[in-house]
Formats: sequence, structure tokens, C-alpha cells
Amino acid sequence: MNPSASSRSIFTQRLDRAVFVTYFLGAIVPLLALGFVVQRDVLPGMSDAPRAQAGMIGVVLGVGMLSLTAFFALRKLTRQAVQRMDADNDRLKEILAASQELSKSPHTRAVAESAAGCVLTVTGTQAAFVALRSAPEKPLTLMGSAGEGAQALYESNQDLLDELFGNAVESDRPVFLGDDDSRAGSKLRAAALPLRGEEGHWGAIAVLDTAGAGAFKPEEMDAIATLAALTSVAFSNADLKDAQRNFFSHVIDLIVTALDAHVDCRAGHSEAVARLSNRIGRELGLDDAQLQRLHFAALLHDIGMLKIDRAEHRMPGKNQKHTLVGQRMLSRIRLWSDLAPIVHHHHEWFDGSGYPEGLEGEAIPLESRIIAVADAVDAMMRNDTHRAALSLEEVLVELREGAGTQFDSQVVIAMAKLAERGEL
Ligand SMILES: [Fe+2]
Repeated sequence: MNPSASSRSIFTQRLDRAVFVTYFLGAIVPLLALGFVVQRDVLPGMSDAPRAQAGMIGVVLGVGMLSLTAFFALRKLTRQAVQRMDADNDRLKEILAASQELSKSPHTRAVAESAAGCVLTVTGTQAAFVALRSAPEKPLTLMGSAGEGAQALYESNQDLLDELFGNAVESDRPVFLGDDDSRAGSKLRAAALPLRGEEGHWGAIAVLDTAGAGAFKPEEMDAIATLAALTSVAFSNADLKDAQRNFFSHVIDLIVTALDAHVDCRAGHSEAVARLSNRIGRELGLDDAQLQRLHFAALLHDIGMLKIDRAEHRMPGKNQKHTLVGQRMLSRIRLWSDLAPIVHHHHEWFDGSGYPEGLEGEAIPLESRIIAVADAVDAMMRNDTHRAALSLEEVLVELREGAGTQFDSQVVIAMAKLAERGEL
């Protein structure tokens, strides 16, 4: 027995006991007292009238029977109420779980798929569908479905579902396949509810049953309406995340373009360092969150150069401050603040002789150690005003010579493995 069922059983037993105690104190005890008083004081006075005596006994027994019937009726009603409360409680738990799942969905299609699955779980209908439109004037498109054979069901009932979707969005209220609809005669039941966003309608969510389980119950419609409201919020959040991703991706593109134009001989350097860092990071088994952080830090590793005068770019005493400047720039941006320490230490040496703080070994963030290698590789492999580009073999020799002093050996080994497999 699961804990929930166990707690339900204890609750029902307690309620039963409460009903019995109430009945006992409120009906049985007064009835026994009445019987005692009648037997002691009333019946002896009626000894010369046996019919009246029998009548009095009958009245007392009748009241007793009525009381007993009331007790069983009360217990039945109580148990029905408890069952309804249990069902509502289970539905609330399912809706809460659905809400958590919806809030985790990272983008619009994931929300649509997740919403269809949640509606199916909560209502137990045969299939659920979510249709969306990208703009008010655009047509509704099926974006998510759930249920066994949902796709085939959609195709065989497409006209009906498209009509319900359209009507729900146009009327801004739930729509049903009515009993007077000739299609309802085939034991088909269906309903659609609009999904409302702040700036209009996203689309609609629909449920379909071909097994003819009768009209949707009010509690089923309440559950679908609640899920539709939660789904609408999830779509708004996913849309916001999409806008945020779009914003960051383009802002980074602008910064990288400005940076590569600001520093001589580095067209494409930031992108190249990011690509190489990503490959090394994967080779070293970094997880998705670390890889994402590494990617953005690699793209922005020299962002501090934007605040260094071009004339000072090749002056070691002057240009070294770009690490601290970059760290300060990024630490002010809350969403990028975790990139700040990586950027700050991308010129540290593994033996502690780098800058700006002379950190040593694993005290240097792993992402910084990876960027240090990727940065050096890209710099060595491109033509500079002072020297010609090195070949990959020559670069690997340089890296191996610097392993353990300038570079982290494990990063150099990962880099060499990528080169051996021809993955650079
Ligand atoms: Fe740098």
C-alpha cells in the first residue's frame, strides 16, 4: 500500500469513528434514556391499557429504526464525500506535477508536447493535441500530441479538430463537440480550450475520445482549463527564454565582431578559440553546463581589449590588464558573472608564472586552462606581422614543450588526441 492510500484509509477510518461516536452520543444514548424512562415511568401507568402500551413500545422501536437508518445514510454520504476529496486531491497532485514539468520545458515545442502529455495524464482521455500559431494572422499548426496512435487519430479527425481549435481561439472560450452534432452519434467526444498569452492567443489545446465515454464531466473540464492556463504561462516563459537567447546570441555576435576588428590580425580568432575550446572540453568530459560556460567565456575571453587603446595592444605592461578589465566588465552583468573568473585567469600559467595573479595548477579554473591552450593554438596557426603561421605538427611540439609549465598537461593531451583523430 502506498503512503497516500494508507493515509486515506486512516482518514476514512477516523471519519467513520467520528460519525459513530456522534451518532452514539446524539441518538443512541438519548434513545436508551427514553426507552428507560418509558419502561420505568410510562408503561407501568398503562398496564390497564395494553394497546396503548404496545403502541408506545412501537413508537420507541420505530424511532430506533429511523435513527439506525439515518446512521447508515450518514456514513454512506460521508464515504462518498471522502472519495470525492481523494479524487480532487489526486487531480491536484497531477496538476502540480504537470505544472512543474511545464515550467521545465525550455522551448515552445517542448511546452506543447509536455502540455499534451499532462492533459492526457490528468483527464485520462484517449488523445490530446496542442495547436499553435506563430502570429495572430498565421494559421494554427499542430505542435504537440499525446496518446496511443495520436497522430493517426489526428489525421482521421483533422477537420473536426481544426474546427474545434479555430472555434476555441475565435470565441476565446471552451468549445465542445455538441450532442446535436451528427459526428457525436459515433460515440465521439471532443473539446478544445484556448491558450491565452499576454499579447493574444497562442492557440488551443484539444482532447479527443472515440470510445464514447459520455460528455466531459465538469471536473474534467476544470482540470483541462487549469492545465490550459498553466500551459499559457509556460508558453510565455518559453517565449521569453527564446527572446533572451536571441538577444544574447546577437549581442555576443556584435561584441565579437567589434573585438576582432579592434585587435590586429585576429579576424575570426574569438570564434576559433570557442570552437577549439568546445572540442577540448568535450574530450575532457565536461558536462553541458560547463561546455556552455566555456563556449561563452572563450568567445569573450579578450573582451577587456575593447577598453585598451590600440597603441597599447602590443605593450606587455599595458595589454596584460585586459584580463582584469574583462573580469570587471563581465562581473557587472549578472547572467555572465560566472564567466568573469574564467576570463580573468585565461593567461595564468600552470606553473604559476602567468598573470594577473600567478595562480598555479588546479587553482586556475579548468575552463581558463582550456582557453589558454585554444588561444595559443589559434595564435600560432595564423600569420602575424612578426612571424608566419606554424603547422599543426609544429604547434603540437610547442604545446608539449609548454605542458606542465605554461599549459595544463591534461589539456595538451586532449588537444593531441583530437589532432591524432583529425578532428581539428
Ligand atoms: Fe587574452
